[in-house]
Amino acid sequence: MDGDLYTADAIAGDENHFQTQIRFQRVMHSDPIYQEAVKRFAGLFDLAQTTDLKEPTAMTLATVGENGQPSVRIVLLRCADERGFVFFTNSLSRKGIQIASNPHAALGLFWDSLGEQVCVEGVASPVGDAESDIYWKSRPRGSQVGAWASLQSEELPTRTMLDQRVEDFEKKFANREVSRPEHWYGYRIAPVRIEFWQEGVSRLHTRTVYELREDEWVRFSLYP
Ligand SMILES: Cc1cc2nc3c(=O)[nH]c(=O)nc-3n(C[C@H](O)[C@H](O)[C@H](O)COP(=O)(O)O)c2cc1C
Repeated sequence: MDGDLYTADAIAGDENHFQTQIRFQRVMHSDPIYQEAVKRFAGLFDLAQTTDLKEPTAMTLATVGENGQPSVRIVLLRCADERGFVFFTNSLSRKGIQIASNPHAALGLFWDSLGEQVCVEGVASPVGDAESDIYWKSRPRGSQVGAWASLQSEELPTRTMLDQRVEDFEKKFANREVSRPEHWYGYRIAPVRIEFWQEGVSRLHTRTVYELREDEWVRFSLYP
C-alpha cells in the first residue's frame, strides 16, 4: 500500500510461525473480501497521515502472558499490506517474551481527526532478518545506539546505569555503522479479524467486521 514506510519481501521466523503465516497468506491473497479490507485500511492509513495527528502510526498492541493476563502498550505501525501489520521491537522485551509463548495478538488504532477506529486480531511472527535490516538502516543513529543500550522491560536500578550503557555503546560503535542487535527485529501480525469503526451521530456508529472463517473471509456489521 502507499502508506508503507519501507518495502521488503523477506519473511522468516521459526517453522511453526512460518506455517501459520503461509496459511493466512494463501487465503488472504485470493479472497476478494479480504482484499476489500486491506484496501479500506490502506485508504484510512494514508488519509490519517495527511491530518495533523502527531503519531498517526501509533497503535495499541495487546499480547497475552503465559498466565492468560493480557497487557498493552503503544508501538508504531511500520508497514501494512496484504501480509499483515508490522512493528519493530526488542524480542527480549516483555511483549517479545509473551509473543514467543503465545503468538496471538491484537492491535487498536484510533484516528481522532477522522473519527475512525480499526481493531485487528491475529497471529504474530518475526519478519526475518532482511526486512528488519532494511528498517534498522532507516533509523537515526541515536535510536540504534539506544536499542543496544536498553535492556527493554528489565528492571532499571538507576538512570545512571542506562546513561552509562549509552556511552559504552557510543564508544563501541564510534566511527562505524551501528549493527542491528540480533534480538531487535520486526513482527508481522497476520490478521484473522479486522473491524472498522466509524464515528456516527448520537453514538450510532458504523461497525464493519471482516473475519476469517475456516478458509474464507466474511464481512458483516455489528450494532454499535
Ligand atoms: C508513541 C509511542 C510509540 C512507541 N513505539 C514503539 C515501538 O515501535 N516499538 C517499541 O518497542 N516500543 C515503542 N514504544 C514504547 C512501548 O510503548 C513500550 O513502553 C515498550 O515497547 C516496552 O513494552 P513492553 O515492556 O510491554 O514490552 C512506543 C511508545 C509510544 C508512546
